[in-house]
Amino acid sequence: MKLKQFINNNYFQGYAYSYPHKSAYRVLVNPRTLTDIWSTENKQNLFLYLHIPFCEMRCGFCNLFTIANPDNTLENPYINQIEKQALATKKALGETHFSRLAIGGGTPSFLSLKDLEKMFAIITDIMKVDIKKANASIETSPKTISIEKLALFKKTGITRVSIGIQSFILEETKALGRPQTVEVAKNALEMIKKSGVPEMNIDLIYGMASQTNATFQYSLEQAMSYQPTEIFLYPLYVRPLTGLGVKDKSWNDHRLELYRFGVNFLEQNNYEQISMRIFRRKDATQLDIGPYDSPTTAMVSLGVGARSYTKDFHYSSEYAVGRKGVKEIIHSYNDKTDTQFKDINFGTNLSVDEQKRRFIIKSLLEGQYLDFQAYKNYFNTNVLEDFTQLNELYEMDLVSKGNNKILQLNKKGLELSDVIGPWLYSNEVTEEMRKYELK
Ligand SMILES: C[S@@+](CC[C@H](N)C(=O)[O-])C[C@H]1O[C@@H](n2cnc3c(N)ncnc32)[C@H](O)[C@@H]1O
Ligand code: SF4
Repeated sequence: MKLKQFINNNYFQGYAYSYPHKSAYRVLVNPRTLTDIWSTENKQNLFLYLHIPFCEMRCGFCNLFTIANPDNTLENPYINQIEKQALATKKALGETHFSRLAIGGGTPSFLSLKDLEKMFAIITDIMKVDIKKANASIETSPKTISIEKLALFKKTGITRVSIGIQSFILEETKALGRPQTVEVAKNALEMIKKSGVPEMNIDLIYGMASQTNATFQYSLEQAMSYQPTEIFLYPLYVRPLTGLGVKDKSWNDHRLELYRFGVNFLEQNNYEQISMRIFRRKDATQLDIGPYDSPTTAMVSLGVGARSYTKDFHYSSEYAVGRKGVKEIIHSYNDKTDTQFKDINFGTNLSVDEQKRRFIIKSLLEGQYLDFQAYKNYFNTNVLEDFTQLNELYEMDLVSKGNNKILQLNKKGLELSDVIGPWLYSNEVTEEMRKYELK
């Protein structure tokens, strides 16, 4: 379909942070072993991701793979299982070099100091990651952070602490179904600031019904007062079963107006727009983080629901197949034996066409650009011949002009990121995702 038609007055169709989307994964007819999956992959430039599916609260808007576990009963066995999975994975991978590390969730800082120490030991001793050289990031929430945990992050070599704040206005976080006080949020930010971890990023959300440009500006100013290296602006998405009601039709316009306001405000205040969601302080020190090529770097993930990517196969150790609850899935992960960690039975194969789409989507939407020669080197074909639809981006004036070697979204293109992503999905993936949502 033509992009013009596809937009259909809706700029917020889906966040394409990965392709194919996990809802296109299926139970494999022929299960595979980790050894087989990784046998032909280049393992000298890998990304390691650890998923911690626990939080101290369950926010009304959030449909990430996580569970509120206020009595702290599930994590200890979970970390032991991560250790088992790490042993099985490293054995299957053999010689590796990890150039990136991310610990996400959920809320990794929900773990106790002791569990965090154990987690870092698994990363360094079993997975052999040099954390100090891996541009490592960890996600946190205001209530779960502490001076001791931050000191551990600093000592371990974490480069970046990311924290979800969402809004500095109590009524707005309440409207999001997020039990958080402004005071706790500010204390957490002070602590991170003083911790000595080199980078901090703050997540904010826009699109709550009661939010106005003025209240958004207030949250942006509050966030900027802590001088974070990056600010992430997330448009509010409300999906089925997340606890928030669906809004009326004008919600799209509301989000678009707030988005444009946020972009301009941050631009005028020393932040450069990197992607639709990422804004980086212009005077932030550039870290020497070595080579990393997002569209082609393979990812090894540990933990329940976490996805791993090789060139032509994406899988997840466990995921919500059908309507199984998150808790049930965590319990079944916690019951897995060593042998079971060697087998993969849930994922998706990527044809060359899907690999190309993934390359384009990641290149365009992650704040970089699509490099025609890099694409040709990788696939041995020309991207504008493979996907003639990309010419529509020129016709609609959504890409920067004057450089015929790359394709880079301009300001008008960036605000359409959540349309351009889904527009580039194949019919097959779109159909699989639709069938999954219907279940
Ligand atoms: C893993 S959380 C961050 C860490 C921590 N769990 C917290 O909430 O403080 C990732 C971020 O995704 C964003 N997010 C999650 N679900 C969202 C949704 N439905 N709409 C918009 N943003 C969302 C939020 O800004 C959130 O901070
Ligand atoms: S937004 Fe963060 S704290 Fe809230 S439920 Fe999602 S992952 Fe947990």
